[in-house]
Amino acid sequence: MLSTTLLTVLLALTSPSQAVDKTVNGPLVASAITAATRLDRAALFSANESVFDFTTHPYHTFSPGGVVNANRATFPPVTGNGMTMAMLYLGPCAMLPAHFHPRASNYVVSVVGTTETYMVEENGAPTVKATLNEGSMTIFPRGSVHMMENPSCTPNTLVSALNAEDTGTTNLATTLFNAFPDELVFPNLGYAIDNATLGRIQHDMPGVGTGAIWGRRECLVRCGIKTNGTSGGAPGY
Ligand SMILES: *[C@@H]1O[C@H](CO)[C@@H](O)[C@H](O)[C@H]1NC(C)=O
Ligand SMILES: *[C@@H]1O[C@H](CO)[C@@H](O)[C@H](O)[C@H]1NC(C)=O
Ligand SMILES: *[C@@H]1O[C@H](CO)[C@@H](O)[C@H](O)[C@H]1NC(C)=O
Repeated sequence: MLSTTLLTVLLALTSPSQAVDKTVNGPLVASAITAATRLDRAALFSANESVFDFTTHPYHTFSPGGVVNANRATFPPVTGNGMTMAMLYLGPCAMLPAHFHPRASNYVVSVVGTTETYMVEENGAPTVKATLNEGSMTIFPRGSVHMMENPSCTPNTLVSALNAEDTGTTNLATTLFNAFPDELVFPNLGYAIDNATLGRIQHDMPGVGTGAIWGRRECLVRCGIKTNGTSGGAPGY
């Protein structure tokens, strides 16, 4: 079992780094948005293109995990229907880093495993912790910052529904540390880190990738997962 884990980790290390959802057919979505009638819109889509298969998407991975969205970018038939459906795959010790969706509220249901979630709505609001056992749900309101983790050594799967076709996702750490001038990042942190440390953070921080990263060090040790310090793992674990 350990060797299977190591193999999947190695496969993850060799896969190309992924980024945000790529728009598969922009002109088709644009035509669907501007179609004069629903009937005109229907004529744009082939009958054989009405199924989205989450399991064949490259972000369908449990090492560490991934978020597969059926949205306007990945699946044009959502256009005009008002929502995104996503599947969340969290391998052993995987987590979704702190992020928010600027244009959608998010309902998340656990279908396999127990997932721990954390959510903050705004400055001054409490941190809401929820334990999602199989068959239970929590809500991340639009704009709320949230994280979730699989603290177990077996894979978790969740269904995630969002009330927009183009929700957007903003990761907090990558945005704070990469999107602004360094000189303005330091005061955000009370000048508690020096320039070399900031450079190390920017270098070592996992990218947006598949949406998931390796989680807490204690879990990685307990489950015998070696991330090799890449793809967002605690160095050496
Ligand atoms: C659906 O059918 C059209 C027309 O026959 C074809 O061009 C297209 O590749 C098919 N798409 C899929 C996903 O099979
Ligand atoms: C800060 O660190 C970066 C590398 O992260 C380096 O390119 C830059 O020269 C450093 N600036 C100063 C003032 O030391
Ligand atoms: C970590 O993985 C990289 C890329 O596969 C490899 O070059 C490096 O030797 C590995 N380091 C350790 C300590 O295993």
